[in-house]
Amino acid sequence: MKVLVIGGGGREHALVWKLAQSPRVRKVYCAPGNAGIAQLAECVPIAADAVEQLADFAEREAIDLTVVGPEAALLAGVVDAFEARGLRIFGPRREAALLEGSKSFAKDLMLTHGIPTAKYQVFTEAEPALQYVREQGAPIVVKADGLAAGKGVIVAKTVAEAEEAVRSILQAKTFGEAGSRVVIEQFLAGEEATVLAFVDGKNVKLMVPSQDHKQVFDGDQGPNTGGMGTYAPVPRVTDELLQGIEATIVRPVAEAMVARGTPYKGVLYAGLMLTAEGPKVIEFNARFGDPEAQVVLPLLENDLVDVIDAVIDGRLQDIRLAWKNGAAVCVILAAQGYPGAYRKGDPIEGLDRLPEQVVVFHAGTDFVEGRYVTNGGRVLGVTGFGADLKAAKEAAYRGVQAIHFAGMHYRKDISDKAFRGEK
Ligand code: AMP
Ligand code: GLY
Repeated sequence: MKVLVIGGGGREHALVWKLAQSPRVRKVYCAPGNAGIAQLAECVPIAADAVEQLADFAEREAIDLTVVGPEAALLAGVVDAFEARGLRIFGPRREAALLEGSKSFAKDLMLTHGIPTAKYQVFTEAEPALQYVREQGAPIVVKADGLAAGKGVIVAKTVAEAEEAVRSILQAKTFGEAGSRVVIEQFLAGEEATVLAFVDGKNVKLMVPSQDHKQVFDGDQGPNTGGMGTYAPVPRVTDELLQGIEATIVRPVAEAMVARGTPYKGVLYAGLMLTAEGPKVIEFNARFGDPEAQVVLPLLENDLVDVIDAVIDGRLQDIRLAWKNGAAVCVILAAQGYPGAYRKGDPIEGLDRLPEQVVVFHAGTDFVEGRYVTNGGRVLGVTGFGADLKAAKEAAYRGVQAIHFAGMHYRKDISDKAFRGEK
């Protein structure tokens, strides 16, 4: 069969890499893809949210299955558009993707169905929002309601910081329309974990838990990024805890979405805080995480096409997910200046001399005059494998040592949290 992957980052490279391993797949296309993806797939110069152009392409090329990477495509209605034309596609429709696209929608749904999450209030006006912040005190969390590329969340340590965040979102419109509403919520203390699940409407199958590292510097210092590294599995998330997460979070959300007439089909990303009172939801995303996909997909034994087929056809109960023994660690190599303004066009050395047990997923690269160059803030994800996390971390950093570009920076402590107590 012919498969189209929508997107062009590290997550999509991991998706293409995994799909290309399926004996059922003859050819993979990726729109728009990147220089690394181009080693495995034919890249098509169509933007990830150019919904009608993507559907035209899928029709013209008789694509058998389309897999959506980024949320922007989902919220632009790519699944609705493909389905309307009878094209087979994997991901939630727009109304279901609102679990990610609107934090207030997700919060209201959780409140209605008793799904554990931080206490919150939603505001459209600054004065009552400021009043609420002063009443609640700090630490407190202020979030722009809509999509803000991971940057619309301010964890305020003081009331003044929270007031500033409210003003910047509601009055200065720092996040544009995404900030026409703010969600103000209780600060949750604990370790974070990501649990991804395949959801076919009613049935859910949880994937191996992973943990992202959002802040740019070692020891969780500095500003937030799209993610500086991940590891899987997470020892702290025991099988028993995972069963609880399925029973109290993932299954109730799936059932609630069916009940309101917007069944969720695709990958549901539950961003969790492991609090003293148990796991609570920080956010839902409507897709694989990036860079969570770069550790979770390589550990999946199943043919991803079989799993996706079962989701689309609503027979996920027939699938048994199987996971490789051992662990994976992904270290993101970022461009100078990231997550602020960063430089592009620096030549990348060493991709042709990678050690064993290492795979590199390209996030922001280009191929110019015979060599790879940087072309994004997050440039590469170096995933290492091993019998356990320690071995996987060693492999990942051996891979990192082999690679170089001017201004390259990365965290040195990816996966160390697995070996520590509460932070
Ligand atoms: P979000 O975009 O909602 O995932 O938030 C980004 C980051 O902000 C999360 O990964 C957490 O580190 C932090 N965060 C969000 N909500 C809370 C909360 N209620 N309590 C503590 N930290 C939070
Ligand atoms: N790694 C965070 C995300 O994909 O949203």
